[in-house]
Amino acid sequence: MSHASSAAVVKEERSDLREILRLVADDLAHVEGLLHEHVSTGVRLLDMMASYVQDGGGKRIRPALLLLAAGLCGARGERPRWLAAAVEYIHMATLLHDDVIDSAAMRRGRRSANNRWGNAATVLLGDFLYARSMALALTQQNLPILRLLSEATLGMVEGEILEIERRGDGLLSETDYLRIIERKTARFFSACAEIGAILGGVPPAQRRALAAYGLELGICFQIVDDMLDFVGDERILGKPVANDLREGNLTLPAIHLLASGDEEASRKVLQVLKDRGYARVPREEILRLAHKHGSIDAARRQAEARASVARRRLDVFSRSPHRQALQSIPDFVLERVP
Ligand code: FPP
Ligand code: MG
Repeated sequence: MSHASSAAVVKEERSDLREILRLVADDLAHVEGLLHEHVSTGVRLLDMMASYVQDGGGKRIRPALLLLAAGLCGARGERPRWLAAAVEYIHMATLLHDDVIDSAAMRRGRRSANNRWGNAATVLLGDFLYARSMALALTQQNLPILRLLSEATLGMVEGEILEIERRGDGLLSETDYLRIIERKTARFFSACAEIGAILGGVPPAQRRALAAYGLELGICFQIVDDMLDFVGDERILGKPVANDLREGNLTLPAIHLLASGDEEASRKVLQVLKDRGYARVPREEILRLAHKHGSIDAARRQAEARASVARRRLDVFSRSPHRQALQSIPDFVLERVP
C-alpha cells in the first residue's frame, strides 16, 4: 500500500471520543452508578466533597481503557465494571493529592477541593477514595490484579517524589523527564490495559502487548498534558496553565528549548525557573522562543511517535471493533493539543 493510501486508511479509522466509547457506553454508565453508590457514608462533609468531585466530570479515560482492553480479550459484564470503577477512584484520589501538592486552585473548570475545603479534608477524601478503590478491587479476588494496582500506585508516588526531588533543576534531561512521567502516569495506564488482559485470560504475549500499549499511551498522554500546560489556555482546560515552569518542573518543550535554543532562550527559561514565576520573563516570551526554536513541534513529534508505537503494539490482536477503538485513543489524546 502506498504511503498516501495507507494514510487515508488511518484517517478513515480515526474516530472521535464518543465513537471510541460507543462500544463501552453501557459499561461506563454502570461504572458511574458504582462510583456514586460507593461514596455514600453518612458523614456529611465527606459525602458533600465526594459528590462535588464526582460531579466535576472527567474523561473517564482509564476506565474506558480497561473496559476496551477487557472487551478485546473477551471479558465482558460485571467484573470489568468493578475494576473500571476501582481505577477511576484511584485516579480521583491521586488528583486530589496532586492538587494539594501543586497548590492548584482550579480543577475541571471549578474550584479545586483543596481550594474549597482546605488541604486536610482533601487529603483525607483522597485517602477515602483510595481505600474504597481497594475495597472494589478486592471483590474480584484476583491477586495479580491487586498486585498490578499496588505497583502502579507505588510508581505514581515514586514519580511524584522524583518530580519534587528534581524541582528547580535546570539540568533535567529528556531521559530524566521520561523516567518521571513513566512512573507518574504511564504505569497506571499500562496497568489498566493489562487488567483487561488478565480478566480475559489471554496468552502472555497478548497480555504483554496490552501492557506495552498502555505504557506508550500513558507517556503520550502525559507529554500532551504537559504541552497543554505549556501552550494551553486556562479557560479552555479548566485548570491552571503555565504552572509547570512556575513550580520549577521542566517538561519536554522547556527541555528542548534549553538543549536546542540559543543563549537568550536558555537564560530566560532558567530565569523563570529561578524566580518561580513570570515577573521578569513573561510567559508569552517563553512561548515565542519555544515556537521560534521548534520546541513545541519537537514535543508534539515525541508524543506522535509514542502514539504510533502504542498503535503498533496491538498488531498481535486480530482486527476487531475493540482493537480499532483502542488504536483510536492515541489520536484522541493527540487532538487535545491546539
Ligand atoms: C497529575 O500530574 C498527577 C499524577 C499523574 C499522579 C499523582 C500521584 C500522586 C499525588 C501520588 C499517589 C497518590 C495516592 C492517592 C496514592 P500533573 O500535575 O502533571 O497534572 P495536572 O496538570 O492535571 O495537575
Ligand atoms: Mg497537578
